[in-house]
Amino acid sequence: MAFVRGSLLGLSASWFFCVLVISVLAVQPHRAHGLSRGFFGPKKTAVAPPAAGICASSVTVHGYKCQELEVTTQDGYILSLQRIPEGRVSDGEVKRRPVLIQHGLILDGMTWLLNSPEQNLPMVLADNGFDVWIANTRGTRFSRRHTSLDSNQPAFWNWSWDELASFDLPAVFDFVYGQTGQKIDYVGHSLGTLVALASFSEGKLVKQLKSAALLSPIAYLSHISTALGVVAAKFFVFEIVQVLGLTEFNPKEEPVGNLLQSLCAHPGVDCYDLLSALTGKNCCLNSSTIDLFLMNEPQSTSVKNMVHLAQMVRNGIVAKYNYGRTDYNLKQYGEASPPIYNLSNIPHDLPIFFSYGGQDALSDVQDVMLLLDNFKSQDVDKLSVQFIQDYAHIDFIMGVNAKDVVYNQVVAFFKRQH
Ligand SMILES: *[C@@H]1O[C@H](CO)[C@@H](O)[C@H](O)[C@H]1NC(C)=O
Ligand SMILES: *[C@@H]1O[C@H](CO)[C@@H](O)[C@H](O)[C@H]1NC(C)=O
Ligand SMILES: *[C@@H]1O[C@H](CO)[C@@H](O)[C@H](O)[C@H]1NC(C)=O
Repeated sequence: MAFVRGSLLGLSASWFFCVLVISVLAVQPHRAHGLSRGFFGPKKTAVAPPAAGICASSVTVHGYKCQELEVTTQDGYILSLQRIPEGRVSDGEVKRRPVLIQHGLILDGMTWLLNSPEQNLPMVLADNGFDVWIANTRGTRFSRRHTSLDSNQPAFWNWSWDELASFDLPAVFDFVYGQTGQKIDYVGHSLGTLVALASFSEGKLVKQLKSAALLSPIAYLSHISTALGVVAAKFFVFEIVQVLGLTEFNPKEEPVGNLLQSLCAHPGVDCYDLLSALTGKNCCLNSSTIDLFLMNEPQSTSVKNMVHLAQMVRNGIVAKYNYGRTDYNLKQYGEASPPIYNLSNIPHDLPIFFSYGGQDALSDVQDVMLLLDNFKSQDVDKLSVQFIQDYAHIDFIMGVNAKDVVYNQVVAFFKRQH
């Protein structure tokens, strides 16, 4: 019995990994098929990431100024941060509004810069007069240092998105606010929306925040997809931490890579079908941009973070990490169940822009509706909601028309706030 349960757990968990990772790599089906054979696992031949850092590889080459900076979180992680202080053509303005851009799960700051300078979000913002800051979450390639831990130690990976909300984001906000002395406009995508909402709901950051644009927003995950929801909800539980260990979740290396590869090759588990069935169809990706994307992503996160996200799929609530045992939860939280993040606590006068896609299987329309329910009392003139019928998850980061469809709306929204 224990064995059967164990293998079921293993199978479903890795399937869940597979789905999540592949969903992040949502590309044309024929590519995805090749991807499942060749991309994951130790034998993959993806090009090594640029050693030079994001500014040198992706920003200054296009004629923009760019600074590489470092921020240390209260729990000791040293995060890399890039600043593009002005547009390609300086307008002589001294006081630009700072905007902070936060990527999503298994990606890093570079994914924002893969489209051409005329089309990518950081440069569009810089050219519109903003002082642009690009965050990189702990565990991603340029944010893998710590004041006392090494990334090969389990303790380095002992965090979920709770810590991104309570440590990473506040550290970066404090830094940007300290440097600029101005309230911050925020743009988050996917997990970058969840950590922001969680943080705002606890009253963190709101004093330093001017407004927030949330793309492909994620908070409720109960409709993430029927099959995924059902299977992951049943089997992908807290115990997986004991199976895999408290470790790095790196889609490109053992053991996760092998797990994914064998699963994708397993009869009956067709990553081609998983992809089209579960991520939705990104309408507007350019194949050269996808090639760049595959050279650079995916990035690592922690197994604990994946477990936390699976808990959300299963429970349909936005709460802190569940240790799966009353005594552990009591020790951590002083309560038998993890405390919820009450999104209704987000200030009603905070200007928020939501943009979501009709084809997005990770930020499902029904889940976005649940999220928006929390903002019914938002001041009417502070809430903007955009629905894009054709868009899926990745279109928001690098759709060929994302500038016209989304980024121009983000800029207009920010400029409406004074
Ligand atoms: C992980 O973090 C939890 C909560 O802070 C702590 O109780 C536990 O001892 C940590 N484990 C490791 C291996 O660092
Ligand atoms: C796709 O990207 C390439 C390389 O950046 C570019 O030359 C081409 O114009 C792009 N196509 C579209 C439709 O944007
Ligand atoms: C969330 O907060 C609101 C007030 O801000 C309160 O009315 C509501 O009961 C809270 N919900 C939960 C589940 O605690």
